Amino acid sequence: MKFVLATRNAHKAEELKRILEELNLDCELFTVADFPGAPEVEETENTFEGNALLKARALAKFTGLAAIADDSGLCVDALNGSPGVLSARWSGALENVDRANLELVLEQIKDVAPENRGAKFVCAAVAVFPNGKELVAVGEMFGNLIDAPIGENGFGYDPIFVPSGFEITTAQMLASEKDAISHRGKALNQLAQQLSEVISKD
Ligand code: IMP
Repeated sequence: MKFVLATRNAHKAEELKRILEELNLDCELFTVADFPGAPEVEETENTFEGNALLKARALAKFTGLAAIADDSGLCVDALNGSPGVLSARWSGALENVDRANLELVLEQIKDVAPENRGAKFVCAAVAVFPNGKELVAVGEMFGNLIDAPIGENGFGYDPIFVPSGFEITTAQMLASEKDAISHRGKALNQLAQQLSEVISKD
């Protein structure tokens, strides 16, 4: 079966490919980059699932293939769940965006005591089939925010996020270590399981 992934991010494509291969799923994976002219979809929903479905529905319609999309972000307890679906655009910065976003969150929680700095990363991964069938999987990774960035790996808010049960940030982990506990890893694994059930019924 052919799938198209609603991302130009090679890392995301590789991660999904690896998970699907581990499940021995017989499928061929394309990305949006293989379909010139594919629509850029604005993320206008207020849930991760809603935004992921917008992207996958548009791509399934454009390509005629089953489309897979994800949407993710950081939800901070002391900020009532923000930045949430606005994580990628939180600071409004146009340059050094990841750094500016992270610094804004640090500024917003600077008076919050360490014991109240709980946060979670959330990822919704969805698949939309040309016949309209939709699959949704959600993964979460809980942890705490520290008050200054540490670590060079990963991206986004990784340098200030220490997952529960660890003493290092996700920016200090190897990609494989993070994938094993991450919101994205969990959501993609769940989605891959659901896909394998759908494919084996066909
Ligand atoms: P998107 O799912 O590609 O739209 O990413 C949303 C935003 O959430 C990213 O730009 C990051 O700011 C943040 N984010 C999502 N997942 C992670 C992660 O694993 N580490 C750090 N930041 C993340």
